[in-house]
Amino acid sequence: MPLSRGTGLAWALAGLWITASLPGVLSQTTNSKGGTIKESYDYVIVGGGTSGLTVGDRLSESGKYSVLAIEYGYIEPDGLRLGQNTYNITSAPAAGLNNKTFSVDVGCIVGGSSAVNGRALQRGTKDDYDIWSQLGGSGPDGPWSWKNLLKYFRKGLQLVPPNPDIPADFNFTVDYKYWGQNNGNKSVFAMYGNTIPPNAYPLYQGTKQLPGVNVPEDGGNGELGLLYYMQATDPRTGNRSYARTAHWDGLNRPNYDLLVGTRVNRIVFEGTTAVGVQTTPRGGTGPSLIIKAKKEVILAAGTIHTPQILQLSGVGPANLLKKAGIKVKVDLPGVGANFQDHTFVSDVSFRWGTPPPIPQSLISQTPASNGISRTYLGLSVPLSVVSANYSSIAQTLLSQSSASVLPPDSHPSIVKGYSSQKSLLAKSILSSKDTSLSYLRISLTPLTVLPTDNPNVSPAGLSLLPINIHPFSRGTVYIDAVKTKAALSLAAASEIEPIVDYRALSNPLDISLVISQIRFLRAVFTSPNGPFAAYNATEINPGPQLQTDAELEKWIREKTSPSVYHPVGTCAKMERSLGGVVDESLRVYGTRGLRIIDASIFPLVTGATTSMSVYAVAEKAADLIKADQKGGHGH
Ligand SMILES: Cc1cc2nc3c(=O)[nH]c(=O)nc-3n(C[C@H](O)[C@H](O)[C@H](O)COP(=O)(O)OP(=O)(O)OC[C@H]3O[C@@H](n4cnc5c(N)ncnc54)[C@H](O)[C@@H]3O)c2cc1C
Ligand SMILES: *[C@@H]1O[C@H](CO)[C@@H](O)[C@H](O)[C@H]1NC(C)=O
Ligand SMILES: *[C@@H]1O[C@H](CO)[C@@H](O)[C@H](O)[C@H]1NC(C)=O
Ligand SMILES: *[C@@H]1O[C@H](CO)[C@@H](O)[C@H](O)[C@H]1NC(C)=O
Ligand SMILES: *[C@@H]1O[C@H](CO)[C@@H](O)[C@H](O)[C@H]1NC(C)=O
Ligand SMILES: *[C@@H]1O[C@H](CO)[C@@H](O)[C@H](O)[C@H]1NC(C)=O
Ligand SMILES: *[C@@H]1O[C@H](CO)[C@@H](O)[C@H](O)[C@H]1NC(C)=O
Ligand SMILES: *[C@@H]1O[C@H](CO)[C@@H](O)[C@H](O)[C@H]1NC(C)=O
Repeated sequence: MPLSRGTGLAWALAGLWITASLPGVLSQTTNSKGGTIKESYDYVIVGGGTSGLTVGDRLSESGKYSVLAIEYGYIEPDGLRLGQNTYNITSAPAAGLNNKTFSVDVGCIVGGSSAVNGRALQRGTKDDYDIWSQLGGSGPDGPWSWKNLLKYFRKGLQLVPPNPDIPADFNFTVDYKYWGQNNGNKSVFAMYGNTIPPNAYPLYQGTKQLPGVNVPEDGGNGELGLLYYMQATDPRTGNRSYARTAHWDGLNRPNYDLLVGTRVNRIVFEGTTAVGVQTTPRGGTGPSLIIKAKKEVILAAGTIHTPQILQLSGVGPANLLKKAGIKVKVDLPGVGANFQDHTFVSDVSFRWGTPPPIPQSLISQTPASNGISRTYLGLSVPLSVVSANYSSIAQTLLSQSSASVLPPDSHPSIVKGYSSQKSLLAKSILSSKDTSLSYLRISLTPLTVLPTDNPNVSPAGLSLLPINIHPFSRGTVYIDAVKTKAALSLAAASEIEPIVDYRALSNPLDISLVISQIRFLRAVFTSPNGPFAAYNATEINPGPQLQTDAELEKWIREKTSPSVYHPVGTCAKMERSLGGVVDESLRVYGTRGLRIIDASIFPLVTGATTSMSVYAVAEKAADLIKADQKGGHGH
């Protein structure tokens, strides 16, 4: 059948199974172990990244089920090499950031973003996960609450405890009830470094004195404050510990295959039941094939690509799909909405008059770094600590019109869901507890203004990258309707990267948040009544000449980056009436045999880096999937 411009994709979607089960093609397709890809598996996982490999391991470990993970990247050395093992995506121009565009970096490699990330391991506060629970409709104590998710945080990790030689002055305590004690060397290692740089000590002592700043007994206990946190590092080698090393390498299971260099274009449905996926080799030129899923198709392509695959499969906002020439299978307005990431300003910096002294006793006690890793110290605080005006910010959040700060013409369910989020956020802000949401996160492991690499010497100043860790703005990830409609085939359409619109600072209250953060940091480091007054700091950036809200806003819009590489939320686990995409069991609304297990299901970004929460979600997802088999609810 000839394909004419503009009709290609519609045609391909109508011709379901057109390339199904071509025996010659299948037998030529080898998995990454050199074997042959089968025509069907019990579970087909889309994306061999952080969540995909974790769930693949758990579903295949009993030997009862056959599992295939399909990954667009290759097996290659880990580490961030932009454009080589990440996707090449440029964001939409950011209206709130002077129309600049930004590189959207997510992993394209076996192991996904866990193979390229910064390795920091943190978790959010109790409120982060209790709000996830409430947005799914099961109340604050539901299955996704802090209380009930904790066992999955523990399951996915093997704790490498702190070095007992770290000086007691750091008051560094760990409570094992928050961490995994599985010692088989087969999980992701969560490693405290063997040293804390002595020049972090004056910052620890000073910030501890700030009113309202908590010092939790353990950085992973769901509380805010001065937190020690870890790295995903294998203590035996110092190498990265990630989804591939923990959940693929060395498994060699006959029932667990990995197909690399292959893109999943779409989910194949029979009615509204997912029965397989259509794939093409990377680059979009080879023949397409269909691989069948006897039990479920599991989406793990990450926050940027999971909504793209759903939209190309006819599951998404009907108006978008129609514009793109795609037949609507399920009108699900939330697919691609609710996009969140952390933002930060670069940088807020001070120069000491007299650098704070480091006790000599500490220098002599501190173990030498063996090069493996260092324990990090961070400060994470509720809005009531950041701003005396926290209640007025919460009130404004509640009273502002949700529709006015969301993308124009947002579906009523999305507006309703955002309003629900805002009331839960406001409640957490006003409650002002140690388990509330964070509204500022900074690293206190010193960064220098005037370089010194010597951890025993106070740097001449501090360069902080304050993170707006619970931004109010919401973005979108949508396929490009015009280009998709013009594409000559589905394979070609799926090579077109989606439009990633961060919409950072689109909610003007985010400006209030960042202004408060800057004023707070000014007060902490330069106020004559502050804990660092003796060291006579002067402000370098944004600079003391910028004082009014308008002056600071201008600087913030110029200096903000829309991402800390923590994209989440585009297929949120929320009630359908709130614009949600998956239910409490991570099933896609309106479909059967289809789940999502990656960071796209986070309804709210965590007040922390995201990978540890992704591992926890994946561990829980694996249990949910297996439970359905026991209960006989599979299709
Ligand atoms: C540069 C960077 C730094 C980061 N730093 C940190 C940090 O220090 N600490 C931290 O906790 N978190 C960090 N993160 C975030 C964290 O790594 C992610 O939140 C997490 O890994 C996401 O897991 P995921 O399973 O949702 O997606 P991913 O791990 O990204 O997996 C998605 C996989 O799907 C594949 N895929 C996509 N589309 C298709 C398709 N159509 N067909 C086949 N395969 C497909 C992708 O290639 C990828 O491998 C960072 C992320 C990045 C990118
Ligand atoms: C990104 O671009 C580089 C250079 O053109 C290319 O080699 C690489 O395959 C691209 N990555 C992806 C995921 O398409
Ligand atoms: C950004 O682009 C829009 C549309 O082109 C334009 O109206 C606006 O003035 C631009 N903003 C800035 C700060 O340049
Ligand atoms: C895990 O690794 C450590 C360090 O190499 C080793 O001492 C221990 O025996 C290993 N445990 C197992 C179960 O292999
Ligand atoms: C150390 O932390 C514990 C637990 O938070 C606290 O009870 C104790 O007072 C702290 N000790 C010092 C010296 O700060
Ligand atoms: C650790 O990383 C190095 C450098 O990438 C590599 O050569 C080595 O094989 C790795 N070790 C293990 C055990 O994976
Ligand atoms: C503090 O800074 C002021 C102005 O820069 C300077 O005059 C004064 O000597 C400094 N004091 C100390 C203790 O560094
Ligand atoms: C708090 O709000 C009041 C009025 O609402 C304003 O006068 C004051 O400047 C604000 N304070 C801060 C620290 O933003």
